[in-house]
Amino acid sequence: MKTLALTNQDTMPMFGLGTWKSPPGEVYQAVKTALAIGYKHIDCAPIYRNEPEVGQAIQESLSSGIVKREEIWITSKLWNNAHQSPEVIPALKQTLKDLQLDYLDLCLIHWPIALKKGVLFPEKASDYLTLTEVPLIETWSAMIAASEQGLCKHIGVSNFSQQKLADLIAQTSYKPEVNQVESHPYLQQNDLLAYCQSQGIVFTAYSPLGSSDRAQVFKKADEPSLLTHPLILDIAAKHSLTPAQILIAWGINRNTVVIPKSVNPERIAENLAASEVNLTSEDMQAIATLELNYRYVDGSFWEIPGSPYTVAELWD
Ligand code: A2P
Repeated sequence: MKTLALTNQDTMPMFGLGTWKSPPGEVYQAVKTALAIGYKHIDCAPIYRNEPEVGQAIQESLSSGIVKREEIWITSKLWNNAHQSPEVIPALKQTLKDLQLDYLDLCLIHWPIALKKGVLFPEKASDYLTLTEVPLIETWSAMIAASEQGLCKHIGVSNFSQQKLADLIAQTSYKPEVNQVESHPYLQQNDLLAYCQSQGIVFTAYSPLGSSDRAQVFKKADEPSLLTHPLILDIAAKHSLTPAQILIAWGINRNTVVIPKSVNPERIAENLAASEVNLTSEDMQAIATLELNYRYVDGSFWEIPGSPYTVAELWD
């Protein structure tokens, strides 16, 4: 398994199983299958509403000796409704309880967006807290405290723009170790990737296959398909691989961590095999021409009437 070094030289597996959109009834088997066939990294979050099932699968895989705790990397995230300092550690403890773990390898601030305690998704403007009311540095300082208490070995952020990373870095001596953002050939985020690399921040790509299983209400009618692009199909045919394998290999070959979601055993295995594929520089350059600056997860769901958050400011 390829890895990337973090600030303290600990290494993070460059390939992992995504669990966003994995139904509770299916994610248990998906995680068990993944760990049994050699996955070393599972990406979780409490807002995926399936951490107890993920935790059961991890626990059973540990107790049956299929994997050892120190061999696997578990990421989870802090939901937006626990950004206020007193909420952070209790939220992370709940995640640890659900995942049946003593520590996380990595914990991320899920979004640079704050909601009131108890609100899962905002329905009205008053469900929000502004970043003036709860500055990201307040949340980040509590994340540092959580890592000092041993709840997580590494801490980072998700869905942070370069501007938000730079603002945070200017206010702290503990840089985020990871930024997890959407990335694939239609949203390569080359500037953000270069910035992260210049700061020693690992860049993790979510939705590497285009997340076509997102709920219909979050999808646009005319979304471009990644898995059926003719160039991806051509390169896949040339290597006798599948389009998904090309997309995964592309992400890893450009030194990003890639976390495709699947609950299907054949595709779980297919995706793992892709993590060892080396593409040629011609393949990489050809795929780089597909840039559309297209976000599948564009954050417009945070822009309800009266919301203090706008898409333009989110990705500033
Ligand atoms: P499934 O879970 O049934 O395998 P993303 O990681 O970008 O969020 O994409 C997840 C979507 O891609 C899911 O619909 C998932 O379906 C599908 N998927 C995962 N692996 C593959 C694969 N190897 N080939 C085709 N589709 C895949």
